[in-house]
Amino acid sequence: MIDHGRTDPRAGADALVGAFAPGRVNLIGEHTDYTGGLALPLAIDLGTTVVGRSTNEPTVVLRSADEPDEACVPLDIDDPVGVTPSWARYVAGIVHELTPARGFRGEVTTTVPIGRGLSSSAALELAVALALGFDGPSTALAELAQRGEHLASGVPCGLMDQLASASGIDGHALLMDFTDGSVEPVRVPDGVAIVVVHSGERRTLVGSAYADRRASCEAAARAVGPLREASLAAVATIADPVVRRRARHVVTENERVRRVVDALRSGDIEAVGTLMVESHESLRVDFEVSTTALDALVDRLVATPGVHGARLTGAGFGGCAVALTEPGALDEGWTVRPSAGARRFAVG
Ligand code: GLA
Repeated sequence: MIDHGRTDPRAGADALVGAFAPGRVNLIGEHTDYTGGLALPLAIDLGTTVVGRSTNEPTVVLRSADEPDEACVPLDIDDPVGVTPSWARYVAGIVHELTPARGFRGEVTTTVPIGRGLSSSAALELAVALALGFDGPSTALAELAQRGEHLASGVPCGLMDQLASASGIDGHALLMDFTDGSVEPVRVPDGVAIVVVHSGERRTLVGSAYADRRASCEAAARAVGPLREASLAAVATIADPVVRRRARHVVTENERVRRVVDALRSGDIEAVGTLMVESHESLRVDFEVSTTALDALVDRLVATPGVHGARLTGAGFGGCAVALTEPGALDEGWTVRPSAGARRFAVG
């Protein structure tokens, strides 16, 4: 990084720092991360940038190009969820977890559509953490940002979004195993496009419904042991029919992730598409996180010539669908490229 502090005409000024973190889209492996399962997201070529410098003020002050009001977070913040404006809660969650020694003043810009299910909040969290001086492995960065997200939003999210943003690899999807936090790159073959299309519905009730799904998975694990190792025969013995269906989604979804990885490696894109559609069905029927708008969108995408498969992506309850297509098959949404993960960069 260039140390502007040494050449800055304002002698003694701190160096300008730049940090960038991408959003993510999940190809398959939905609602598996918090059960120690498998997922296959990728970091995308849309992301959030923070540029600024340390100060001797007792606050982190960030101005966003997309928000009317700035975030001004005291270094000793103890209750991120009460902070206003609401976007500042994510900054506050990171300040709370990172406990930076010095203040910071900077600007935030983003190319991630905000609140659309492409992990704009994870991108903000990671970019802020890096700008404020986080130094450590990508898993630790992701875990810190996840703790910040829990504090900021109150939603007990898993690690997938933050880990995808932290550990993205150009041209690759990321096979994540949440039993040990490992990430294995899986090349996305040339000649396929990944397109994300919004359903038109903002995600609603995502907090309580997400926590409810997570609680059902925990109930299932109490009945049959870790879902990652559970067989469908064991799942069939779960007495509560709702808990049984939730568990069946998780067990079958882990298997679909394995099969998608095999299919990508052997170049069988049609098989990937079929498994994506099966994932959507499982999320619709067994996990019950789809909506009428998402179902209609997936049906329409799958019926479009050149589309190999599509499914809802992210938590559900609104938000986006992801489609795997021949290049140019869809003229809507965001065509995203698997991209590198969060990083600091030189400013100047
Ligand atoms: C949200 C959460 C993730 C994950 C997905 C569902 O994006 O933040 O941790 O659980 O939902 O797969």
